[in-house]
Amino acid sequence: MRPASALLALLPFAPTVWGRIKYLGVALAGIDFGCDIDGSCPLDTVQIPLSTHGGPDGEGQMKHWVKNYDMNMFRLSSTWQFLTNDNLGGKLDKKNFGIFDELMQACLDTGAYCIIDIHNFARYDGGIIGQGGPTDEVFADLLTQLTKKYPDNEKVAFGLMNEPHDIDINRWGETCQVAVNAIRAAETTDHMILLPGTNFTNVETFIITGSADALHKVTNPDGSHDNLFFDFHKYLDENNSGTHETCTTDNVEAYGRMADWLREHDRKAIISESGATMDETCFERFCRQNEFINENIDVFEGFIGWGAGAFAEDYLLSLTPKSDGDGTFVDNRLMTECIVKPFGAKAQAKPTTTKKTTTHHHTSTKATSTEPTSTGTSSTITSAPPQPTETGDSEEVTEDSAAASAGVSFFTILLSFLIITFM
Ligand SMILES: *[C@@H]1O[C@H](CO)[C@@H](O)[C@H](O)[C@H]1NC(C)=O
Ligand SMILES: *[C@@H]1O[C@H](CO)[C@@H](O)[C@H](O)[C@H]1NC(C)=O
Repeated sequence: MRPASALLALLPFAPTVWGRIKYLGVALAGIDFGCDIDGSCPLDTVQIPLSTHGGPDGEGQMKHWVKNYDMNMFRLSSTWQFLTNDNLGGKLDKKNFGIFDELMQACLDTGAYCIIDIHNFARYDGGIIGQGGPTDEVFADLLTQLTKKYPDNEKVAFGLMNEPHDIDINRWGETCQVAVNAIRAAETTDHMILLPGTNFTNVETFIITGSADALHKVTNPDGSHDNLFFDFHKYLDENNSGTHETCTTDNVEAYGRMADWLREHDRKAIISESGATMDETCFERFCRQNEFINENIDVFEGFIGWGAGAFAEDYLLSLTPKSDGDGTFVDNRLMTECIVKPFGAKAQAKPTTTKKTTTHHHTSTKATSTEPTSTGTSSTITSAPPQPTETGDSEEVTEDSAAASAGVSFFTILLSFLIITFM
């Protein structure tokens, strides 16, 4: 157990003091279109979210969110079939991987973290990985090849798999271990890895399905859990599928239970999928869920909204901003009210600026967070939801940044003092 437990008493105040969730962004879907939950992922329904490939302007979308809200993490969906051109066990396909890499580069060019999402439900054409379908080694080989494309880029993150379900969770834990070993062996710098559980990696059932225990056993080769995150998904409709108009579930209890578990086990998580519709029930429940997540950013380090990219603006869960054609975009109300507002329009500063002020890993994210925090920012957000226009927001950035730095340096000193005291 790390000696930081004394600091836990302070954590309820973390969000108001330290500000925004560490990683915030949107999922760019499209290459996964048509993928069935049995892992059959046709190639003829693929839509590339890049205008250079005849699709919507995913590159412009990412730039827009980075510029206006300092978003810093995007999840780029692909499928196993697409990456190898439906050649299970084969090499990355030159043409198809080239296209996926264009999307990756568009993301990386914004400075954001970019999650590779293998959208296969732990399967390939009906066969479960390590459980009758492709062997762990065949899956690991895919990850080895992908890692070797970005061996030294820490901004590339691996979502090992989208939404496993109806699997033996302990056996899946072993598969994840083989996958982690493969990535760690092929990389030259540490990458973030997201570990998904069963039941579509549903945060509500993560503990009772045994996902939490099975995935807690997965470690790095050195035995640590550094950069190994639990990966949660959650919708708010009646069967957690994100296919119904009405939001009926209140996810606060589920996230609360999970937050306690994570604190107790000294683990962190990223919510790599959650979304809702424009129904009024969703404005209430989705906003509340995200406010709650933002009150627990000591364990929930990332939030990715679903979804944009190749989704049309009228898709049920669309976060696709309206393009005015000259490179500017306007977000819908769900994005501005339930994502930008609860999480805050402005990012914490880059960790590099104050990283050296503390050597304590567990608390460093808070100590280095420049997010504002300061009451100035909160009131800005509360009284005036962020403007979806580019110019309006740029002005705010400057003011808030100044307020943020002032607020943060004070709290950094305070926190450093507390760390020294309690250690
Ligand atoms: C959820 O409900 C939808 C619509 O009724 C249905 O198509 C889907 O199969 C259900 N999903 C799950 C995981 O139960
Ligand atoms: C999976 O999640 C759904 C939706 O929350 C729930 O109804 C179901 O009981 C869960 N299944 C298991 C096996 O926990």
